[in-house]
Amino acid sequence: MTLVTATDLTRHFPLPRAHLFDRTRTLHALDGVSLTLSEGEALGIVGESGCGKSTLGRLVQGLDRPTSGSVVRPEGPRIRVIQTIYQNPLDSLDPRMRVGRQIIEPLVIHGIGSAADHEARLANLMAQVELPAELADRLPGQLSGGQAQRVVIARALSLAPRVLICDEPVAALDAPVARAVTALLDRLRTDRQMGLIFISHDIGTVAELCQRVAVMYLGEIVEEGPVGQVLTAPRHPYTQGLLSAIPRPDPGGRPSPPMLGGEPASPIDPTPGCRLAPRCPYAQEVCRTVTPKLRGRSHRAACHFTAHD
Ligand SMILES: Nc1ncnc2c1ncn2[C@@H]1O[C@H](COP(=O)(O)OP(=O)(O)OP(=O)(O)O)[C@@H](O)[C@H]1O
Ligand SMILES: [Mg+2]
Repeated sequence: MTLVTATDLTRHFPLPRAHLFDRTRTLHALDGVSLTLSEGEALGIVGESGCGKSTLGRLVQGLDRPTSGSVVRPEGPRIRVIQTIYQNPLDSLDPRMRVGRQIIEPLVIHGIGSAADHEARLANLMAQVELPAELADRLPGQLSGGQAQRVVIARALSLAPRVLICDEPVAALDAPVARAVTALLDRLRTDRQMGLIFISHDIGTVAELCQRVAVMYLGEIVEEGPVGQVLTAPRHPYTQGLLSAIPRPDPGGRPSPPMLGGEPASPIDPTPGCRLAPRCPYAQEVCRTVTPKLRGRSHRAACHFTAHD
């Protein structure tokens, strides 16, 4: 069953003019992004810093309104059906409130259940995120980063969301702790048939956790499909460049040279055509004038010069 359908989402930010007679400039954080998320499915979102991943998450949850386009979410109060967890758990926790209390705080705020129910719910939620019960009396500052992130996850779960958006949830954690938290998210997805949107710079983690992946560049999805296909047989030059930039153990071989030169272009007042064209080794005249559309059935790519099924 489909939980989220985003259609043609666009989010533009008008920039303040430096001088009275300057032309208004517009930052295109997101341009024409469509995606779907099904029950029990993990969708990875990857792409360089500033490509619009967090903006997309905010629009999907409904924390921000699109300039145009629409999002269809599961039935029910928006705050309860979709929850987001962020990179730094301490940013989302109250430093002066005991963590047990914070985990059930959403139930208190929304008036769900009695005090006795909350007690039982707390024990259950802490067990689900594999936190020892005695940590409930601690303050956030008395927890490790991994424990604090588990508290944030438990609090998000208290409202039984259908969709969990994870915006770089393990980026601030040491590798073994990050792996454990990722494994927890995977188990919660399976057990609860939650939909996960997993925003990450770490393609290795996306490969392990996600069934599908969307690759973003400058506010657009340039490639999307089953994770195995996109990461082993990328069709878009940007995805190819992103993957070739990952250092990998390469017995005997030389590391492949990075495919994409230069920096990402500016998201301010983008010109028509493919946004990768200035950096793309395959760019032709048409790429500078005609915007390529996502084409293909389950594995889609937006490039004039690639194979599509
Ligand atoms: N409120 C805002 N006002 C103006 N510009 C914004 C605003 N929010 C985001 N942007 C711009 O929109 C673009 C996308 O930002 P976003 O935070 O979605 O990127 P991101 O892919 O999440 O990056 P990162 O990987 O660094 O978290 C960036 O150019 C950013 O500067
Ligand atoms: Mg972000």
